[in-house]
Amino acid sequence: MTTTSPATAFASCVSAISVAGQQTYADSVFPYIYQCRSSTAGVSDAISWIGSQQAELLRLATLHGAVLFRDFPFKSVEDFDSLVAALGVINFPYKKSLSNAVRINRTERVFSANEAPPEVQIFFHHEMAQTPFYPEYILFYCEVAAQQGGATPLCRSDILFQRLEAESPRFIADCEKFGLKYTNVMPGADDQLSGMGRSWQSTLGVQTPEEAEARLRELRYTWEWLEGNCLRATTPVLPAILELPDGRKTFFNQLIAAWSGWKDSRNDPSKSIRHGNEQPLDAAGVQSAIRIADELTFDMNWQAGDAVLIDNRVVMHARRTFVGPRKVVASLGNMCLNSFQERPGV
Ligand SMILES: [Fe+2]
Repeated sequence: MTTTSPATAFASCVSAISVAGQQTYADSVFPYIYQCRSSTAGVSDAISWIGSQQAELLRLATLHGAVLFRDFPFKSVEDFDSLVAALGVINFPYKKSLSNAVRINRTERVFSANEAPPEVQIFFHHEMAQTPFYPEYILFYCEVAAQQGGATPLCRSDILFQRLEAESPRFIADCEKFGLKYTNVMPGADDQLSGMGRSWQSTLGVQTPEEAEARLRELRYTWEWLEGNCLRATTPVLPAILELPDGRKTFFNQLIAAWSGWKDSRNDPSKSIRHGNEQPLDAAGVQSAIRIADELTFDMNWQAGDAVLIDNRVVMHARRTFVGPRKVVASLGNMCLNSFQERPGV
């Protein structure tokens, strides 16, 4: 007698599908979508299947940029936590990140995507590309879909790089040669009204100004204390372009978000970003990047239970405004070092 393993049984209910708006490239689609066709499949079978496909799913995420799991039996944040664990990526906890967003942990691995109010738009970015450490993977899960709006726009940054290199070669050459430096002002206490309202104590994982300065020195930031216990910090030079192991280049940065959206009671977007040699960004080049990213957008219109695995080196994400109690949570995997290599020949 032969018995079928849970992973094999689940595999027979799963197929790759297409949806409206899905993009097609020479050797990839965006996003790649798996649908579960069984309404009776259990979460433990789905998790067994994910575990059995670990390497393949991560490969698909890198090739296509994002893998959406639709109609899978993921009913809770705990199920999503199990999905992430089954992929075998190393947890990159929010509290260890230098993210500037206010978030709330739901499990060890899972936290709210951003606590900023519904009317705050979050612009395209690669997660934590503005800090010395970034996650290789970011995963999202929709607990509750918004009544209106609330899509997560996604954009293939390798395609954006190709289009920008053809359209604005000088701008791309400056990005590659000089990299980027980011400046932001952190409050003395979490400000949930801002998309970038995380306090300096929480961001840096410290209690006192002395500890904050020691941590900034270690990270090679420069800083200035401002009135009201606020801290202005500027990063070391960070890359604007990343080269993947397969040779693809991506527009890996927070340029669009910093230029368009680093705006609150403390922050002025015109002071938030410049090249590593202090040169200001070419406004026309930035406008091209914003327009092309917009053209390349796939809107992830959430259905409750959807989970998405994204290779953060390949795909940027954003958040549209919404109405209703939207709940989208996130998890980060595999911390990577974001270091700028001077390339005098570029
Ligand atoms: Fe993000």
